Amino acid sequence: MVKICCIGAGYVGGPTMAVIALKCPSIEVVVVDISASRIAAWNSDQLPIYEPGLDDVVKQCRGKNLFFSTNVEVHVAEADIIFVSVNTPTKTRGLGAGKAADLTYWESAARMIADVSRSDKIVVEKSTVPVKTAEAIEKILTHNSKGVNYQILSNPEFLAEGTAIQDLFTPDRVLIGGRETPEGSRAVQTLKDVYAHWVPEDRILTTNLWSAELSKLAANAFLAQRISSVNAISALCEATGANVSEVAFAVGKDSRIGPKFLNASVGFGGSCFQKDILNLVYICECNGLPEVANYWRQVIKINDYQKSRFVNRVVSSMFNTVSGKKIAVLGFAFKKDTGDTRETPAIDVCKGLLGDKASISIYDPQVTEEQIRRDLAMNKFDWDHPAHLQPTSPAAVKQVSVTWDAYAAAKGAHGVCILTEWDEFRELDYQRIYDNMQKPAFVFDGRNVVDAEKLRAIGFIVYSIGKPLDSWLKDMPAIA
Ligand code: NAI
Repeated sequence: MVKICCIGAGYVGGPTMAVIALKCPSIEVVVVDISASRIAAWNSDQLPIYEPGLDDVVKQCRGKNLFFSTNVEVHVAEADIIFVSVNTPTKTRGLGAGKAADLTYWESAARMIADVSRSDKIVVEKSTVPVKTAEAIEKILTHNSKGVNYQILSNPEFLAEGTAIQDLFTPDRVLIGGRETPEGSRAVQTLKDVYAHWVPEDRILTTNLWSAELSKLAANAFLAQRISSVNAISALCEATGANVSEVAFAVGKDSRIGPKFLNASVGFGGSCFQKDILNLVYICECNGLPEVANYWRQVIKINDYQKSRFVNRVVSSMFNTVSGKKIAVLGFAFKKDTGDTRETPAIDVCKGLLGDKASISIYDPQVTEEQIRRDLAMNKFDWDHPAHLQPTSPAAVKQVSVTWDAYAAAKGAHGVCILTEWDEFRELDYQRIYDNMQKPAFVFDGRNVVDAEKLRAIGFIVYSIGKPLDSWLKDMPAIA
């Protein structure tokens, strides 16, 4: 029986390994992590991450050929294939701070593998890493090898949170990069055989190591760039009376462009897009390509602009101040169908509103109060580092309250900001919300989920990203 061990039981390691276990009953899969609480949660009925369909998959294989353990060294020593899916955050200090990937967790995992391995291993980069990381990992492993042969593969993960299980069941492609040597090709084939249990052969792409590493960074940069492109157009739509949904639809009809990922919003979030683009920018700079670096940096600048443009719109619409006003925030996760708040635009929007002394009341169906308070107390980039580097007792931000109901959040509020596209926000009783709000009552729809005309008929002043403005909003222009 082939044995797989995955280091890192996070948003990627957990779901990917659960699906491998489900699809390959003949393979034993152990997911290990240094976080005892995370492993305990994977072994309980309350999994540590919310992902539609994940519970079912885990229930079917846990205890059969899928195991979660803190016994990192034992399982690494026993494995034939070791996936490394640890976090690769942006460096917060030292050389490349604010841009470069922090490979501390990766390096310590590699050193541990070298330390405990007594049989040949295939080590798979599952984390998103800078191009050429495999070379560094290879050096650590071979220089510390106890007579063991290592093959390093790059197998970046393309799943999207919220649809992870679907994406893993039917991936657009699986990418495997390896050394162009007979041993390298054999290792690529071994991993290919694992995926071939359920992924059609023509969807399994093989490349050299550097192409695989760079493809992941490039794919995320392209995806984020699409969002920044449509968001940039959304600002122009508001200024001209065009409607971004109509423009995006017309643009997306071009088969060279395609209709997906063209929704204007308050901005992209999530643990990957910003981190990976910053990493790309840093790599370009290190390779003497400042023009290319600046090109990609703009994608992040537009995203930051979109978030501050939203905050400015809220403040300017409400007579240029939100001081002492209650603002309801509906949605805190970075997208629907996940409880993940890493780099969610809601953090920047809330901090912007708090900076203008608003009092905010937040509701999200999947995010706990503790998480929200921690996020609002944290410095940029600290979220992806271990707990001991984060504020130990998250400072209670006094003007923030967290509710478990959208109606409670909006009660007595002057304005409602919709920051995540949860389906339930489309179905709310907005008449009831309006009746319990201060007047004039505002809705700022950062995800274009509500029917603005219906809400206007109730009496709301409505701002929808990239849509023609109400006369009220036209009279109170936001200065970004
Ligand atoms: P995560 O933070 O949810 O999980 C990483 C886990 O690794 C944590 O539980 C941490 O305790 C553990 N860990 C760190 N060092 C360790 C060590 N030395 N030994 C054992 N466990 C260790 O991160 P996530 O979201 O799963 O991301 C992992 C990687 O995958 C990152 O490089 C990310 O860029 C990439 N990725 C993430 C995607 C996502 O949607 N979240 C999608 C595709 C790639």
